Amino acid sequence: MPNTPPRSGEIAGAEATAASDTLDGLVDRKADHIRLALDRRMQADQSVFAAWRFGHVALPEIDRDAIDLRTPFLGRTLELPLLISCMTGGTDLAARVNRNLALAAQRAGVALGLGSQRKALEDPSQAETFKVRELAPDVPLIGNLGAVQFNYGYGLEECRAAVDMIDADALALHLNPLQEAIQPEGQCDFSELLPRIRSVVQDLEVPVIVKEVGSGLSAATGRRLLDVGVPILDTAGVGGTSWARIEAARASDLPIGELFADWGLSTPESLLQLRPLSSDFTLIGSGGLRSGLDAAKALALGADLVGIAQPFLAAALDSAEAVVDRIERTRQELEIAMFCLGVTRPTDLRRAELSRRDTP
Ligand SMILES: Cc1cc2nc3c(=O)[nH]c(=O)nc-3n(C[C@H](O)[C@H](O)[C@H](O)COP(=O)(O)O)c2cc1C
Repeated sequence: MPNTPPRSGEIAGAEATAASDTLDGLVDRKADHIRLALDRRMQADQSVFAAWRFGHVALPEIDRDAIDLRTPFLGRTLELPLLISCMTGGTDLAARVNRNLALAAQRAGVALGLGSQRKALEDPSQAETFKVRELAPDVPLIGNLGAVQFNYGYGLEECRAAVDMIDADALALHLNPLQEAIQPEGQCDFSELLPRIRSVVQDLEVPVIVKEVGSGLSAATGRRLLDVGVPILDTAGVGGTSWARIEAARASDLPIGELFADWGLSTPESLLQLRPLSSDFTLIGSGGLRSGLDAAKALALGADLVGIAQPFLAAALDSAEAVVDRIERTRQELEIAMFCLGVTRPTDLRRAELSRRDTP
């Protein structure tokens, strides 16, 4: 059933945050994001993966026990091709979320992204809320900054500081023009970012990931990023958490959120555009993946691994065990799909029959 968008003022605490982007404003924004992301109405109206169907293989000719989900990523081996996508940090609640995510990532053997570290760079007392390496010594940890910050005083030094803060295996630079444009306090000077991304890719000691946050990367944008040497792209397409809706709710301007709610490329469309660019880069499929079956479809559409954010948020507010359960469920669903397709390795899913059904 489609979500009914909230009416203006309906979401407790989501009133306009017209304050300038001071550190206090940043802290409030991060708290708003957690609260709003948990609201079902901030999600896409329907699954972008539901229209895609695998061709069932009644004679799979494999032993389910032969399925091997292990996947190399950033010099380590994941137990399954899953990244808990970058979400939060900077508040007590965020610290709890990050701790539980880290414990679960370590236990389940999946990668973990932390939320934007800008706040912790500007107020070092916040850094503790991001520091989870001790809890997750063996899995890839990914730092996070907004690429647009390169036009607001940030450079290589801040990237290095973000990496050092959490002993990261990679740094994700997020692209979020729609989110910034809807925020009253948004930072919208996105000019000349590509050369700045190029120099960080060249000089930073760890690999750079460039990710969208929910509107998808197109082939044209992906090409420009690969051309400057970005080794890892994360689609984060339309289909999951809607930053248009979240920022519109914060700004008490819900109509603008609805107008732009499906702006961009859906995750399947984005994957179909990006994979043919090259077999030589790591492609993370994310945005609206809500099950291991969705993960199987993203892998079949060309992703090397998948990212999931919002579904882990409520679990992480609860406990590390709840996050592990959710990961385990995802693993089980992915494995069932692979068994009924007769494939034992995630990369073999690209050979599975997957077609789009426009009518049920
Ligand atoms: C509460 C919340 C906070 C987020 N904060 C960040 C962030 O700081 N940096 C970033 O790159 N992406 C951020 N994201 C975006 C996610 O990493 C992901 O790209 C996006 O939510 C799509 O995945 P989903 O549909 O599974 O939620 C955030 C997502 C959520 C739900």
